Amino acid sequence: PKGLNDYAKKAGKLYFGTAADVPGTNETTDKYYRAELANKHDWGQVTPANAMKWVFTEPEQGVFNYTEAEIFLADAASDGKLVRCHNLNWYNQLPNWLTQGTWTNETLTKVLENHVTNLVEYFGDRCYAWDVVNEAFSDSGTTGSLADNTTWRSDLWYNTIGPGYVAVAFKAAEKAVKAKKLKVKLYYNDYNIENAGAKSSAAQALVKSLKAQNIQIDGVGLQSHFIVGETPSRAAQSSNMQAFAALGVDVAITELDIRTTVPATAAEQQQQVVDYASSVGACADVDACVGVTAWDFDDAYSWIPSTFPGQGYGDLFFQPGGYNTPLVRKAAYDGCIQGLTS
Ligand code: G3I
Repeated sequence: PKGLNDYAKKAGKLYFGTAADVPGTNETTDKYYRAELANKHDWGQVTPANAMKWVFTEPEQGVFNYTEAEIFLADAASDGKLVRCHNLNWYNQLPNWLTQGTWTNETLTKVLENHVTNLVEYFGDRCYAWDVVNEAFSDSGTTGSLADNTTWRSDLWYNTIGPGYVAVAFKAAEKAVKAKKLKVKLYYNDYNIENAGAKSSAAQALVKSLKAQNIQIDGVGLQSHFIVGETPSRAAQSSNMQAFAALGVDVAITELDIRTTVPATAAEQQQQVVDYASSVGACADVDACVGVTAWDFDDAYSWIPSTFPGQGYGDLFFQPGGYNTPLVRKAAYDGCIQGLTS
């Protein structure tokens, strides 16, 4: 094996992959970044960090635009890389017509169904999987019960349609899958569900509830935006994965990065190796875990510093010389290999 994807396959996984962005961002013109993105020994799967989100794909009501997504697919998904399509429903990165519109349960349900149907049918089996619903649960819920309104994120979807919007989205996706005889896997995707706790319990309850309604759900995406030194142990992550697997779904690590305050100390850099090994190793330990996706691989293009000022160093590579200079591989990269081989 010559890279992360090779090692992941050797460990029986489908892929090791990465998120990547769209034109208009520096990463698409940085030739060193691009050369690494094209390295199929490392990356067997790609996820568009932005290109398929609602603000890009339905900028005006009923007007679908797949320009950015097509550029992403032609570029990042070359060499037969699998694509995890992201996402059909989220509270964030919505167009103004949607966030500023006046909606009822009925009208918003139709909008959601129309969006899901169009995207699933349009991209078809070019998607290995779809994140159908992203981040439906709040971080403040304590019971994990779907009947408890503090379990749910208070957003446009929940506040207008109620908790049933998740089933609306999955049902529409399933209908499109059946109409077009697709193989695409339908996922629920969230963060802070990577170890036991109320939010993970809520996600498990959601899987049970959809299955009880005979609605297709094939997998749960564990985003895994971790913090150096606070990453759940390998055993904690793998037992949480097993809890999902026991419900009859696949799991995947979908957005892995492990941040710290910058500049990272030598001790933090060492701990990051351990933390990457724990997370990737947990996926290796669980048959139902299909693969791992890094939420981009180069600190230069990470979402972390703009969301958490003063933090970063979360990815597997960095560019000490700045834009368009050689990438340096971190010890954390070897941590991933360690996780896949031990
Ligand atoms: O498209 C506009 C561009 O027109 C404008 O000039 C530029 C100026 O700021 O902004 C561009 O939009 C940015 C967009 O990325 C595309 O580059 C947004 O400001 C920026 O907020 C957005 O960030 C994305 C973030 O989701 C939004 O919340 C990140 O790239 C993306 O990595 C991140 O990904 C999310 C997952 O989808 C879900 N899980 C959490 C994860 C990290 O936040």
